[in-house]
Amino acid sequence: MCGIIGYTGHSAAAPILLDGLRRLEYRGYDSAGLALVGAGTLTEIKEVGKVARLEEACAGFPELENDVCCGIAHTRWATHGVPSAVNAHPHCDEKYEFAIVHNGIVENHHELRAHLEKKGYHFRSSTDSEVIVHLIAEAYEGDLLSATAAAVRQLSGTYGIAVVSSRHPGLIVAARKGSPLVIGLGEGENLIASDISALLPRTRKVIYLNDGDIAAIRPDGIDLRDVSNVPVEREVAKIDWDAAAAEKGNFPHFMLKEIFEQPETVENAIRGRLNLEMGNAVLNGLELSPRDLAQISRIVIAGCGSSMHAGMVGEYYFEDIAGISTSVEQAAEFRYRNPIIEPNTLVIPISQSGETADTIAAVREAVGKGALVTALCNVVGSTIAREAGRGVYLHAGPEISVASTKAFSSQVAVLLLMALLLGRNRRLSRSEGSELAREIEQAPELIRQVLAQAETIRAIAKRYAAFDDFFYIGRGCLYPTALEGALKLKEISYVHAEGYHAAELKHGPIALLDERHPVLALANDIPGREKILGNIQECRARRAPVVAVATVGDREVEQLTDDVIFVPACSRFIAPLPTAVALQLFAYFIAVERGCEIDQPRNLAKSVTVE
Ligand code: F6R
Repeated sequence: MCGIIGYTGHSAAAPILLDGLRRLEYRGYDSAGLALVGAGTLTEIKEVGKVARLEEACAGFPELENDVCCGIAHTRWATHGVPSAVNAHPHCDEKYEFAIVHNGIVENHHELRAHLEKKGYHFRSSTDSEVIVHLIAEAYEGDLLSATAAAVRQLSGTYGIAVVSSRHPGLIVAARKGSPLVIGLGEGENLIASDISALLPRTRKVIYLNDGDIAAIRPDGIDLRDVSNVPVEREVAKIDWDAAAAEKGNFPHFMLKEIFEQPETVENAIRGRLNLEMGNAVLNGLELSPRDLAQISRIVIAGCGSSMHAGMVGEYYFEDIAGISTSVEQAAEFRYRNPIIEPNTLVIPISQSGETADTIAAVREAVGKGALVTALCNVVGSTIAREAGRGVYLHAGPEISVASTKAFSSQVAVLLLMALLLGRNRRLSRSEGSELAREIEQAPELIRQVLAQAETIRAIAKRYAAFDDFFYIGRGCLYPTALEGALKLKEISYVHAEGYHAAELKHGPIALLDERHPVLALANDIPGREKILGNIQECRARRAPVVAVATVGDREVEQLTDDVIFVPACSRFIAPLPTAVALQLFAYFIAVERGCEIDQPRNLAKSVTVE
């Protein structure tokens, strides 16, 4: 999704903005641009395609190198208007005195455009965003903050914007509603970005803007107003991610780096949160007393994509371990379906980014209906984390690859901790709790053992890289794991892959099976294995090639199938973790074989901040 970075300080702004844009590339984009303001000058440079092309274009403006120390920049992911240099941001007013970058969607842009055109304003682009700069030019009477405030008051929809003007060198005005913005506080310089990863090289001190906030950002200070134009102070948060965490290191892709980080990220998710002796989990962020926990009668999990799949694994945990009736909702359905929330319903929104529009809306719906809401987020201070009020952070570090890997495993690990806590609060004995806690503690090591087989998985993936349709089947907790495996494959290799409950095959999809449709069967040695063996036979009878994930040493599965990826022995609760990692590697190596652009798959954005 679109990315914003702005800088004001005493260093040349162009290289800082370009570096920031490169760090936002992972969000997905089709064009990029920047606007720089010096004393009385405004320079706008925009290009279709990669940030590298924008950088080449900037080389044609050597005067920007030294003395232009303020500017804004943007990576655009087309929504209104085709990807083109004209539609790329920033957008400038007619006299090139004001420039804006915008994330979000202006829903009433048709009316605003008609109104502005009637008054004689000329539009260059076909975007919804351009109206904002003309509204600012129209409202301007010497004060950029007030003009921006007057402009955004007329917008319906969502926005995160940054504004500069040649009349105010050194000043950036930023405003937010529904699209994240975060101020980075530096020494003699300040920044604004849509995503903290763009800020990390210069600062780790940040202020998250709330919806309705508007800020004037100068090198030496910030003037922050809330929705009613009242000056406000907001908490300064310290980010514990460092810039290296958001870099590839020696890995060819962020996705592979993040897959390999999982022993540590799962370790981070459980560190300090297990009490082996009491057989319990310690989750302070939940802020729920044992009495509150005991009163929970139902759990509803809401999320999208991989986060929803993690939630579906969690559904098995909460019902099986804690005996609490649980359902999982696609977050968009939750928001529009008028969900039933009873006084003791616990709603768990799950979101890596904490900025997914549908999940934010689900949080608001749940909070508005008086539910207990506990979020699972990775990005500290993100909208969902703040609006839910309480929650458990994943501590997975920045996830840059568009395809989620380490966030998924951390979500599963944290859901298991929550189920342990709720289980101990009701039907689980101390010794049962201790046994589960010890298994959870082993999870990072089990993941490590899967990673050690990366070369074997690569060799298997190579044999299947030419197929265009895959089925993934599983049962129990491995059913949502199959969905997640199929999602990984389609996202990064553009191969059609369908995840199914293994029992569902016979109810229709089996009609498709033949030698051109490989089946990934999750046949780990956990309850349900015998049934999966039956499903494998059915697939083979239709000549479908079968790749199984099986428990180390399972000769029976080996004999039944064409290829096997072995994972270490573990209980049904832990099995989704090593299995998901094996499937991530399988998808990754297929995408490599097919020559796909792995970290920024076509049409996808890291954080889906629009509906
Ligand atoms: C899949 C993927 C997406 C996200 C989904 C939710 O690899 O990355 O399906 O899981 O867009 O994003 P978050 O978790 O940020 O709410």
